[in-house]
Amino acid sequence: MCGIIGVVGMPNAASALVKGLKRLEYRGYDSAGIAVVTGKGLEIQRAVGAVANLERQAAPLGTVGIGHTRWATHGPPTEANSHPHRDCSERLAVVHNGIVENYQELREGLQARGHRLLSQTDTEVLAHLIEERYHGDLLAAVQETLPLIEGSYGLVVVSADAPDRIVCARMRSPLLLGVGQGQMLLASDATALLEHTRSVVFLEDGETAELTQERVRLFDAHRKPKIPVVRELPWNLEAAEKGGFDHFMLKEIHEIPEALHEVFRGRLGMAGDRFDVEGALPESALRGAQRILVLACGTSYYAGMVGRSIVEQLAGVPVDVQLASEYRYAPQTTQEGTLAIFVSQSGETADTLEAMRRARASGCRTLAMVNVVGSTLAREAEGVFYLRAGPEIGVASTKAFVNMVGGFYLLGLHLGATRGHLTPDECKRLAGEMRTLPRLAQRALETAGDVAPLAGEFFHGAEHAFYLGRQINHGLAMEGALKIKEISYLHAEGYAAGELKHGPLALLTPDFPVVVALSDKEPTYGVMVSNIGEVRARGAKVLAIATETDANVHKHVDHVVRVPASDPLFYPVPACVALYLLAYHAARGRGCNIDRPRNLAKSVTVE
Ligand code: M6R
Repeated sequence: MCGIIGVVGMPNAASALVKGLKRLEYRGYDSAGIAVVTGKGLEIQRAVGAVANLERQAAPLGTVGIGHTRWATHGPPTEANSHPHRDCSERLAVVHNGIVENYQELREGLQARGHRLLSQTDTEVLAHLIEERYHGDLLAAVQETLPLIEGSYGLVVVSADAPDRIVCARMRSPLLLGVGQGQMLLASDATALLEHTRSVVFLEDGETAELTQERVRLFDAHRKPKIPVVRELPWNLEAAEKGGFDHFMLKEIHEIPEALHEVFRGRLGMAGDRFDVEGALPESALRGAQRILVLACGTSYYAGMVGRSIVEQLAGVPVDVQLASEYRYAPQTTQEGTLAIFVSQSGETADTLEAMRRARASGCRTLAMVNVVGSTLAREAEGVFYLRAGPEIGVASTKAFVNMVGGFYLLGLHLGATRGHLTPDECKRLAGEMRTLPRLAQRALETAGDVAPLAGEFFHGAEHAFYLGRQINHGLAMEGALKIKEISYLHAEGYAAGELKHGPLALLTPDFPVVVALSDKEPTYGVMVSNIGEVRARGAKVLAIATETDANVHKHVDHVVRVPASDPLFYPVPACVALYLLAYHAARGRGCNIDRPRNLAKSVTVE
C-alpha cells in the first residue's frame, strides 16, 4: 500500500521524486523518504508524516534517485523505519511496497552473518541480501536475491556504485515504468508519472527491469530479456489535480456526472446488445452464464450488492456477492457455468486478485470491472470492462462506486436484452433513462449541495449512527455508512431496514442518528415508512434521502435531503451523491483529514 517512485535522467531528481511522492501520498502517509545519487555517494532524506515534512529538508543534487511514501505494516512510523533502507556499506538503498513474509528468518540469518539492521521493517533485509550478492552488477544482484523472498514486492534499488541506473522487480505489487525523452521513471501508480510521460510499460509478476537514461532492459521471471510493450495512458495531469476544490473527495463527487457520462459513452445501444468487454472473454460466457458471482472489497463490494439487484431485476440471472477476502480462503467448490466479476477501482487489491485466481481455478469465467487501465486485475482476468471514472485520488471512493453501479446497469441491460428477459421496448426505455443519469447526478449535486449545516447539526454529539435501506438500497446504505465512518470516524453501520428489530433496535437512543435511503416509487416504501416509525418511537432522529416527488416523507422524519426522482432502479445514483456530500461535510465539520483518513490507504495491496 506504500507509494514508490524512481527516476533516471532528471535534471533535479530530488524535486521530481518529492513531487511524485505527493501524488502517491494517498497510498500511505506514515513517513516519506528519498535516496539520490550525488557526487558524495548516496544521499538519503527521510521524515515521519507527510511528504511536506520531507520537502523542508535541503534537496540533494543528482539526476538518479528513488522515493517512498509509507503505510506502516512492520514497525511503527518512525524515521528509522522509513524507506529508503540501506545496506551495511550505505552505498545501496531500497524502497519496497509489499510484505516480505519470511523476513524474520532472513533477518536472523543476516545478523548471524554480521549485518547490522537498524529498523524493525521487513524491507531492510532486502538491502542486505542484495549487498551480499552485489559484485559489480546491480541487476544480477537483485535477480539473485528474489528467489529468497517469500511474499510480495514492488522493489526499487539504487547504488552509488552504479550511479546511472535503477533496478526494479515486481511480485504481486503494482509497478509501471514511464518512458520519457532522455528520462526514465517508474512508480507504483500512473498518477506519479503523468507530469513526465503517458507512455508506460506495466511490469508483470516475476519481472525485473533496469532503467538507464536511454533505455529500459526488461526480463521475465526466468531472467530472459523481453521486449517492453509501451502503452499510452488515457489520463492527463489535470485529471489528477484538485482543480480548485479543497479536497480530492469533493472534486471527485463533483466529477460524478462526467464520470457517468464516460461509463456510458458509446456503450448504450438502443437494443442493449453490446457490452464493451476487452480481452479474450467470449460473449457466450456472458450470455450463457447460469450464475454470476461478484467478488470485491469495501466500497466495490457494496457496488456489487447494488449490482446484484440491478442484474437480477433486468436479466433474471441469479447473482451472488461475496467478500473477496473471505472467498479466497473458503472451501473450493466447482463453479462451472459461473461468471465471476471482480469489481475494483485500483485493480490492485490483494484480496480481490487472489479471489480471481481462486475463482479461475474453480472453473469460473472471469471478468474484471476495473477503473485503472492496465492494472493487474485488468490484465489477469479473461475480460475487462473499464469503468472510465478517471483517476480517483481521495482514499474514500466516490465516483468509482457510481461508475461500478453504471457498469452493472449496462451489464443488466445487455443480459436482459440478449437473454430475452427484457422486451425491445423495455430496453429502449431503460437505455433512455440511463442516458439521463449524468444529468440526474448533476441535479443531485444541486438539490443536496447545501447539506453542510445539516450534516453538522444532525451528527452533532453522536458517536454512532445507522444507515438503513432495503433491496437495491441496502448496499447503498452500507456504502453511506462506510463513507461516514472512514472519513469522519463516526461509528456507523449500514443495515437492511427490516433487520433492525431483530437486535440493533436495542441500541437506539435520542443521540443515535439514523439515515434512511428510500425512493417514493420503490415497492418497499410502505415498510420503510413503518421501519422509520419504529426508530422514531425510540426517540432517535431520522434524516431521509428522499426524492423530490415524495410528498409524504417529511411527515415521518426529522430532516429530508431531496434528490431528483427516477425509476427506483436508478435511485442509488442521485442518492449516493447526497450520501457522499453528507459524509464529506460531517467530516469537514469535525476537522478530519478527509483525503487521508487515519490508518487507511487508497490501494490495499496487502491481505
Ligand atoms: O481498489 P478497490 O476498489 O479494489 O478497493 C477496495 C476497497 O479497499 C475500497 O473500496 C475502500 O473500501 C475505500 N476506501 C472505500 O471508500
